[in-house]
Amino acid sequence: LKGQSFKQWATEQMGIKPKDDENKNTIHKHSMISQSQLTNLRQKKEDVEKQSLVQDGIDITIGSIGDDEKIVKKAFYIPVKRNQEIQEARMELPICAEEQIIMETISNNPVVIICGETGSGKTTQVPQFLYEAGYGSKDSDNPGIIGITQPRRVAAVSMSKRVAQELSLNEQEVSYQIRFDATVSPKTIIKFMTDGVLLRELANDFLLSKYSAIVIDEAHERSINTDILIGAISRVLKLRAELSKDDEGKIKPLKVIIMSATLRVSDFIQNKNLFDITPPVINVNTRQFPVSIHFNKRTPNSDYVSEAFKKVCKIHTKLPHGGILVFLSGQNEIILLCKKLRKKFPFLMQNQFKSKQMLEKEKTFREVEKVKENESITSKEADLDTDSEDFEENLENDEMTMDEHSRPLYVLPLYSLLSTHAQLRVFEPPPEGTRLCVVATNVAETSLTIPSIKYVVDCGKVKERLYDVVTGVQSYIVNWTSKASADQRAGRAGRTGPGHCYRLFSSAVFNDQFQQFTVPEIHRMPIEGTVLQMKAMNIDTVCNFPFPTPPDRGHLHKAEKLLQYMNALDENGRITELGRTMATFPISPRFSKMLIIGQQHGCLPYIIAIISALSVVDPFIKDYQLENSTNSDDDDDDVEKEYKEVRSNELNNISESHEAILQKKRQKLIRKKFYDVQKKHAGLDPTSDLLKLLNVVGAYEYEGCSENFCESNFVRPKAMEEIHKLRGQITNIIQMNCPGVDVCLDPKMKPPSSIQLKAIRQVITAGFIDQVAIRKGLIDKSSKTFSSTRNVEYCTMWGDDIAFIHPTSILYHNKPPDFVVYQELHKTSKVWMKGVTVIESSWLSKLGRSLCTFSKPVELPMSKSKKNKDTEKFAYVTPNFGPKNWELP
Ligand code: CDP
Ligand code: MG
Repeated sequence: LKGQSFKQWATEQMGIKPKDDENKNTIHKHSMISQSQLTNLRQKKEDVEKQSLVQDGIDITIGSIGDDEKIVKKAFYIPVKRNQEIQEARMELPICAEEQIIMETISNNPVVIICGETGSGKTTQVPQFLYEAGYGSKDSDNPGIIGITQPRRVAAVSMSKRVAQELSLNEQEVSYQIRFDATVSPKTIIKFMTDGVLLRELANDFLLSKYSAIVIDEAHERSINTDILIGAISRVLKLRAELSKDDEGKIKPLKVIIMSATLRVSDFIQNKNLFDITPPVINVNTRQFPVSIHFNKRTPNSDYVSEAFKKVCKIHTKLPHGGILVFLSGQNEIILLCKKLRKKFPFLMQNQFKSKQMLEKEKTFREVEKVKENESITSKEADLDTDSEDFEENLENDEMTMDEHSRPLYVLPLYSLLSTHAQLRVFEPPPEGTRLCVVATNVAETSLTIPSIKYVVDCGKVKERLYDVVTGVQSYIVNWTSKASADQRAGRAGRTGPGHCYRLFSSAVFNDQFQQFTVPEIHRMPIEGTVLQMKAMNIDTVCNFPFPTPPDRGHLHKAEKLLQYMNALDENGRITELGRTMATFPISPRFSKMLIIGQQHGCLPYIIAIISALSVVDPFIKDYQLENSTNSDDDDDDVEKEYKEVRSNELNNISESHEAILQKKRQKLIRKKFYDVQKKHAGLDPTSDLLKLLNVVGAYEYEGCSENFCESNFVRPKAMEEIHKLRGQITNIIQMNCPGVDVCLDPKMKPPSSIQLKAIRQVITAGFIDQVAIRKGLIDKSSKTFSSTRNVEYCTMWGDDIAFIHPTSILYHNKPPDFVVYQELHKTSKVWMKGVTVIESSWLSKLGRSLCTFSKPVELPMSKSKKNKDTEKFAYVTPNFGPKNWELP
């Protein structure tokens, strides 16, 4: 059976061809059955007159086809027409050899775990196996669609496209749904989605009744959503199994397949709370070629980008044929390394632009390559560390000069914020005569398999978002990855032949400082959104939820408290009506609360724009990123460090050529324009960074969402596009729930009035009520005055850290306000407040009563008499939008 699908085998053996006409969906499918089972069934056949009998819950039909008596399993078999190239490629995938075992195990068990190396074909093939077995068919015993979850949006989109192509179906039949985008339709049979999407569906339909099978992919990544999904689905399974016993039989049992790239599945199996019966684990035997690991001899250098550059240069100039995959931790580094490599080994897209000399050179290289291809690398050659010192020196001296003697390197970046189109380029074969070199973040670790990689260069680092549960401070830290993920990365080199992995760290560091596995995300991230989702699914006691690895009770408690401050939960921890409305929006609970209050106070369209902008990556390009302004997107954070890094790179690169001088002049001009634009963004009322966002979103829409606008305003087109989409999506949800509410932010709409502007700031305060900061001088009663906020200390409500207004804030150069709310705290050398809004202390007593201590009774401001016409008009449009009207001070 190896290398051949069961169906192919069976067809050949039996001469059966799927009939398209009368029996489209009930073509008999052969099942491989052991000798003992065969004897057993023969016996039974004699006992049972009828053609069909039930064994272990499966319909089995015994019949004769051809000369021999055969056991035929009555099952669905949806015929598929695949083109030959695809069929051949999939026959090479290890998972196709296991199709029979996988499908039988799935049909006999409610939950099955499939482990297989990255690239073994799990994501692309398992949905097809299910499809062919009839799981997506309306006419089968178990009607319903096939759902596959992915932790990453990129993977959901690209995998749905791939599977549609393999099955020759269209993008509605094999569709995807991610936060910003969807191709689902009533015709959908297979649906790829992010795990967050399925979680939200659970809140509306806990039985997941439209699905017959759910595949949870990349379970080893242990994202929060995947963890919650597995916990919740363990309950859905029980419910569906229970209800399916009902006589009417409307509800059928659900099939769940959990897929993981590593064997660390004990959290799912050994956790007694999860599944009643220990799920069977199928290991897909991968033909993994040996990968030799080469550790760096020296103690690791913090400048691993240069180190990686040197390593790639050596591989490219000294070792034969084969793609190179470099793992770095962040996008800025990737862009930097790509730049350096492209300069060193240039590659021109079109032949007509190449000099004759260059074409000659390429020809020679191709010939040399052909010879080299057949040679294997000796261990001495492979160990690049033993190289002569000369080579190192040469590299260091003329890092930036073009290498005339090597063939071109086809360098491609790969990170999740890159456009889907740009990401898919890594699957295409590199242009002839070039060597492929992909520089990636850990998205290439398991989600996407890049073909024909022979060399892996691993910096050993990963950028992780850390969150301090007590203080709420978030920081990005570049850390050593885990041993498991370093091994995954190395494995990428052995997919198509023996490979080599160059680790830019020593074996001592690997042994002593690397953790065995990466810590599950649920132990690292804020979980209030997750807790609210769970409450909306009527899971009241989140502490008892079957998490694969339960988070600390304290963290769960803190999340519940925050939701109580926001009135999403009542004092008993039950979800309130407000909380339920909040949970319907695909955004953090803070933002949904802002929407609800915003609607009640006549500024909904503006709030939609603001929260859409806050929900995606910061759209503003920072001054230290100007050089990369056209293609840079980053979860930048470590402002000072990155600034220094880029500066020092800049300094190193200075050469006195005329071009360089021109370039510098141009950069100076760009910088000047940048600062002018910054002032313009702040608008006439510089009281909030969030209002600055509003200005930019409004202007972008007004300018017809053009890329030109983005370029001249130093904002990232991809981020602006996502904001635009999210705005549309939130608007749709509101229109669906509350028809008649005016939510458009069209060009003709009036700008916010000064009253609306104030209301917007109050709504922001309500959303971030636990993130108020007070100028320290106000508490100390010091009389020191400041002309700008630089070095002015603020106290937050949690923790003892002193916080400062971030230099990117529009308030940075202004007179320091006494009270502010911030959107995020970021820790680098100091704790910084980002997304700052000036507020008035008098608002707090009303918006955050439960968080205030009063030294004397406060009179609440009466809002009725002051109510403005605008506000009145909007406030009662749809009483059912939120459960009660929130009064603003
Ligand atoms: O999920 P798993 O890592 O086990 O493998 P997969 O993603 O299903 O990939 C199976 C094969 O399909 C790999 O060799 C990929 O390179 C290939 N593939 C492709 O050529 N183009 C795509 N868009 C997706 C996958
Ligand atoms: Mg996969």
